[in-house]
Amino acid sequence: MKRVFRAAAVLLAGAGAAVGWAQTAPSAPGGASVAHPERWPAAHSPASLKDPATEARITALMARMTLEEKVGQMIQGDIGSVKPEDLRRYPLGSVLAGGSSPPLGAPDRAPAAPWIATARAFNAVAMEARPGHVAVPIMFGVDAVHGNNNVVGATLFPHNSALGAMRDPELIRRIGAATAAETAAAGIDWAFGPTLTVPQDDRWGRAYEGYSEDPALVASYAAAMVEGLQGRAGDWGVQKGHVAASAKHFLGDGGTFEGVDQGDARVSEEVLIATHAAGYKPAVDAGVLTVMASFSSWNGAKMHGNRSLLTDVLKGRMGFDGFVVGDWNGHAQLPGCTNADCPATFAAGLDMAMAPDGWRGMFDTTVAAVKSGKLPMARVDDAVRRILRVKFKTGLFDPARPYENRSATEIGSAAHRAVAREAVAKSLVLLKNDGVLPLKAGANILVAGDAADDVGRQSGGWTLSWQGDGNTAKDFPGATSIYAGIAAAMKAGGGTATLSPDGSFAKKPDAAVVVFGERPYAEMRGDVRTLEFEPGDKQSLALLKKLKAAGVPVVSVFLSGRPLWVNPELNASDAFVAAWFPGSEGAGVADVLVGGRRDFNGKLSYSWPRNAGQFTLNRGGAGYDPLFPFGYGLSYAARGAAVPTLSEVSGVDASLANTSLFFARGRVPAPFALKLDGAVKSRAVDSASAQEGAVELAWTGAGTARVTGPALNLERETNADLNLQVTYRVERAGPVTLAMGSGRVTPAWKAGGWQVLRVPLKCFRDAGAAVASVAEPVAFAASGPATLVISDLRLATDPEGAVCPK
Ligand code: BGC
Ligand code: BGC
Repeated sequence: MKRVFRAAAVLLAGAGAAVGWAQTAPSAPGGASVAHPERWPAAHSPASLKDPATEARITALMARMTLEEKVGQMIQGDIGSVKPEDLRRYPLGSVLAGGSSPPLGAPDRAPAAPWIATARAFNAVAMEARPGHVAVPIMFGVDAVHGNNNVVGATLFPHNSALGAMRDPELIRRIGAATAAETAAAGIDWAFGPTLTVPQDDRWGRAYEGYSEDPALVASYAAAMVEGLQGRAGDWGVQKGHVAASAKHFLGDGGTFEGVDQGDARVSEEVLIATHAAGYKPAVDAGVLTVMASFSSWNGAKMHGNRSLLTDVLKGRMGFDGFVVGDWNGHAQLPGCTNADCPATFAAGLDMAMAPDGWRGMFDTTVAAVKSGKLPMARVDDAVRRILRVKFKTGLFDPARPYENRSATEIGSAAHRAVAREAVAKSLVLLKNDGVLPLKAGANILVAGDAADDVGRQSGGWTLSWQGDGNTAKDFPGATSIYAGIAAAMKAGGGTATLSPDGSFAKKPDAAVVVFGERPYAEMRGDVRTLEFEPGDKQSLALLKKLKAAGVPVVSVFLSGRPLWVNPELNASDAFVAAWFPGSEGAGVADVLVGGRRDFNGKLSYSWPRNAGQFTLNRGGAGYDPLFPFGYGLSYAARGAAVPTLSEVSGVDASLANTSLFFARGRVPAPFALKLDGAVKSRAVDSASAQEGAVELAWTGAGTARVTGPALNLERETNADLNLQVTYRVERAGPVTLAMGSGRVTPAWKAGGWQVLRVPLKCFRDAGAAVASVAEPVAFAASGPATLVISDLRLATDPEGAVCPK
């Protein structure tokens, strides 16, 4: 109990100041940022990466290349801003498709054909015979981080936090191989994975990209995933359906202060080695061809400029002979650098800069830096040799691309889906079971919850779009939702499953499976400030309680990237399954839940918190006091002790937990309050779904209805393209403006029933809001008679229809 208070006290200490993700650090970093290579584990890329025949071919090729052609190799542009014909003037070494970048001439959500055509179009220009041009194949990279997740119809594997629960390196290898086959079949040569991060603070939005908080578990997967993607050392090549891998993000991405994305890892060199570097030795030894530098810093020094780590440790002590790629404009964060100019990053040891939109300037400034002597030619030669080495080993100099002809049979194949389904089943962790599981196959089951029949929700971020938002059922041909999997299993057993997202039913079911949890998110947007699930508005809990009150046994299937504080939801459930973000093969859930043919296998790879303030709850940490420890997981065979009724005190200050929800289901949640000034009155009225679920604001003259609270720092939310989302109904049309702080806009409120308005936070900033300190996140003002009914008011990621009002 003591720990709860300590956590709360720490949080409360910060509560007086402006709260927000960009909270200032309590103390200056101060620690060392220069590594001592001799303290690091020795490793070495396999000999086959540097065979003499290939090295001789590289030497011959480089002898013919101009400075411009060499520098071009060191720069990667994003296909959202490079055209194939640009390569004639700017001979770039690589292109990537960022999470939201579409293939040429097609929408972002596209099947394999346009991706193959895009790869061919770039390569055609890179390889064309032109006077004075040395043809070097271009390398095409994507974030194939849970399957080839940019391509419509691909198999989507569970995200890494789920895979950690399997404790199964052999299955990891098969997942890697299937991912590679689906990536090569789309014309792509390079997957930006595996993520070998060891997340230490679960508030970090990228925690789910890590296999575990435990370095040994991450290390046990590193070689298997690298070899799965690339093939074993010496067996490389896209001709065989393999791709180059990229171990990322080097180094310390999972150790940043307060779990802030792209933040600062304030840890000693010992911790950097023992915790954060654990996966890199096995990855290098297994022959990983590329390593991606981290956006983050180590004790204040950005990794993209850390020569001691990129060069002395990674290439020196760890004997890494592949190349180091940068992260998305990561170089621009170095002092004195911009998106388009950064010799310092190459000097530190970066071999290829990811310059999505700044590639043109980056090319010109890097050429100039070599000419002026700022960047030594020897460094350029070393970088280019490494890049060409990887291109040879990835098979790019061999024009044969048999896998592209197999796209129809490889992408989303039954065999790959079976591997994913196995991974889903093996990664489920049973946290509580009072006996309702397994469900009897002949029973009548209600399948409820807003995520029950939604492949987008069960797939999380990095799914067709960067943040995983905006997806609909038609984007997932061949996939199976959790509901569909349960329905098929019940039918096969002679029972029934009825889908009912809101939990209503005509005939009382034997049990209900409720699927709910976090919505998809990726970088930045996934950062939270406490571990409380649904702070402010416990809508999932309300559904669980409603079913329980009706006497229906409840099985919770919780979708999340990380452990969250869900004590109230656990109390309201008869069984509780942590299902993570399982991906496209929802049937794997039914394989374990229905009939008991398959037992639970998953064991927590992240410790589960007892209160919402246990941000850095990690195995082996000081005062370790989890609700469910690392390694916990019940099964049918080992039922374990019953879970008692748990404390529902979150242990954190509500003002820290809730920074985004201003009105929901009939109330303004803490720490916010509604204040009325002038000729405006409020009263509770019904919303579309609940009695007194909405508030009516009625003006008879000039007046303002404001939501006030502690000052919020909404800079990150603004930069991450979040919107203010208002669900409303016009009762009496009138001149109502909408403000955030001092930024005011005039929306065109639509008549005719319930409507959703989304205004990008950027619009309020453009209109004068100081988003770094917002004490009044929402204000509705009118100058004369008007009546507006509001049923929901929050910050949200869904981009649909979000534009600045004129
Ligand atoms: C992410 C990387 C990713 C890259 C390319 C960055 O923002 O940090 O993990 O590989 O973008 O999309
Ligand atoms: C891209 C991502 C990238 C991110 C970095 C997005 O627009 O689609 O791939 O990681 O920007 O900020």
